[in-house]
Amino acid sequence: MENFRKIIQNNRAWAAAMVENDPEYFHKRASKQEPHFLYIGCADSRVPSNVVTGTEPGELFVHRNIANQVLPSDLNAMCVLQYAVEVLDVKHVIVTGHYGCGGVKAAMGTESYGLVDHWLGPIRNVVRWNRGELDAIADEQARFDRVVELNVLEQIYHLTETPIIQHAWAKGRRPLLHGLVYDIHTGLLREVATGIDSHEAADALAARRESGVPAGPPPVAGRFASPSVLAGDELADAIAQRVLKQLDGARGERTR
Ligand code: CO
Repeated sequence: MENFRKIIQNNRAWAAAMVENDPEYFHKRASKQEPHFLYIGCADSRVPSNVVTGTEPGELFVHRNIANQVLPSDLNAMCVLQYAVEVLDVKHVIVTGHYGCGGVKAAMGTESYGLVDHWLGPIRNVVRWNRGELDAIADEQARFDRVVELNVLEQIYHLTETPIIQHAWAKGRRPLLHGLVYDIHTGLLREVATGIDSHEAADALAARRESGVPAGPPPVAGRFASPSVLAGDELADAIAQRVLKQLDGARGERTR
């Protein structure tokens, strides 16, 4: 309870200090928000979004979850993204991961943590898709760091695949996508992807994976490139063709 009381005391002291420095500080910010940034980060207490970016109230629209994921099935994240892009018209969407991320570490191991195991499923895919690169990294810590970076890049991909970002880009509105990794040991943000403004830019990022740093996840198209594996539109088309064929066959039998 003492720790909780301290939070209230801190708040009083902070608000007073702000007003002392600028009597209009809260008044100026209370009427509306016009943030230029949507920040998507990890829920980790060591990575406070406004503190590490040096931003004031009103400057960052924020969504945080375990291991800073952007999943199309996450209604919360999609609502935040839609509101930020279409209503607030943010200029930048920033995904910020961090070294030492417990969520990423859990996804790399086999220990069970309950419900969160399900949430971390997509990160296990990131590990699997990049198995070749990761297996070549002998140092365990370096491998962990790399998965943190790859996870951020993967979330950039997820953003490019959302109808929200696609519609915005199609309309010529340009939320630029950025991927950062925060180093909890130095307090510094590292850029792993900057200024992604199109699918081409996202694919180019992935292509650099072949040639060196900064590497990215497998190209979006490449993931489904194997001719024996169908996915996405191709799979839907193949199923539709099969269904139509069966319907034709059934119709033919009826008429005979
Ligand atoms: Co984390």
